[in-house]
Amino acid sequence: HELALSLDEIEKSGYPHFMLKEIFEQPRAIADCLRGRLDVKNHSVQLGGLTDVLDQLVNADRLVIAACGTSWHAGLVGEYLFEHLAKLPVEVEYASEFRYREPLIDENDVMLVISQSGETADTLAALRTAKERGALALGVCNVVGSTIARDTDAGVYTHAGPEIGVASTKAFTTQVSVLAMMAILLGQKRNTIEEEYAARLIEELNRIPDKVEQILDRSESVKEMAELFTYAPNFLYLGRTYNFPVALEGALKLKEISYIHAEGYPAAEMKHGPIALIDAMMPVVVIAATDHTNDKMISNIEEVKARKGRIIGITGEDNEEVINLSEFSCPIPETEDCLSPLLTSIPLQLLSYYIAVNRGCDVDQPRNLAKSVTVE
Ligand code: G6P
Repeated sequence: HELALSLDEIEKSGYPHFMLKEIFEQPRAIADCLRGRLDVKNHSVQLGGLTDVLDQLVNADRLVIAACGTSWHAGLVGEYLFEHLAKLPVEVEYASEFRYREPLIDENDVMLVISQSGETADTLAALRTAKERGALALGVCNVVGSTIARDTDAGVYTHAGPEIGVASTKAFTTQVSVLAMMAILLGQKRNTIEEEYAARLIEELNRIPDKVEQILDRSESVKEMAELFTYAPNFLYLGRTYNFPVALEGALKLKEISYIHAEGYPAAEMKHGPIALIDAMMPVVVIAATDHTNDKMISNIEEVKARKGRIIGITGEDNEEVINLSEFSCPIPETEDCLSPLLTSIPLQLLSYYIAVNRGCDVDQPRNLAKSVTVE
């Protein structure tokens, strides 16, 4: 009976934790999410779940995105994508705040809720509030047939497969993949995006699974880095534009599973507070993967270094300046700026995972947290 594997071991397919399995599943999960939706040859995106409501979405005055936790971070990336590609005004709301305000939303608006489980109580309540006020209700969910998926007028599934680890990983990258496809599609329909740029983005999205694989192939270097920072009491994560939400998500991952206090900030806000905390004990994770903010990120790195903070740089592999300025760096394959969260989030997932394991934490079942929060 020594050969007998427990059900648990079979389900983890040889990985010590579901979270690690799910991190490594991302190339496949993202490919599944894109499959049949990206037409690289004809430079088009098809999202079958939106066909019936596409006109209404194209002509909407405003998109309101509501979600919780990691899904809310995906929503923030979505805000930058929809504004940039589709020139559509977007507001991103914590579902819990939206539902208890007197939200101004009506039939000219579209509500988009994002939820891995499709069962989060606050997100469901936000969705119902928006529907009562006449808004078209769309969903981005992972769990097929979940309450939110059934309650929305239309939507897009992420097709990430079951996510068991409490800390969300592949759900996040597939949510962002769906939002990128929606934003490209809307940009094309609203004529706000050059055809050539749309074609480039579609080709690049199609390459994302391979690029994620390349990052995972280098996971050993993140593991080594994690050794050095396992007992840091605090972490700061800084990003700009598309990677500001990634900074929030990186900090959340670390908090959730390693119980280290971590904060994500837009890099420029550092000077309005967090800079006071920086000293030789403070690792600062700088996510510098967008070209047009690169110089600004470099000044932020210099400000941190002047105070002896320790820089972990997550940046494009051609960005020698940031790599040289960082004490440790995790170079990622180059990509289009607006798609970079799909890559920069990966090393941050790995970093939090390895630190949590080093600290002996229960990675898949962190204390006080639930996979799906179905109570208020
Ligand atoms: C809980 C989970 C998080 C998740 C959040 C929203 O807090 O621990 O990982 O991001 O709920 O869940 P949802 O299923 O709505 O995406």
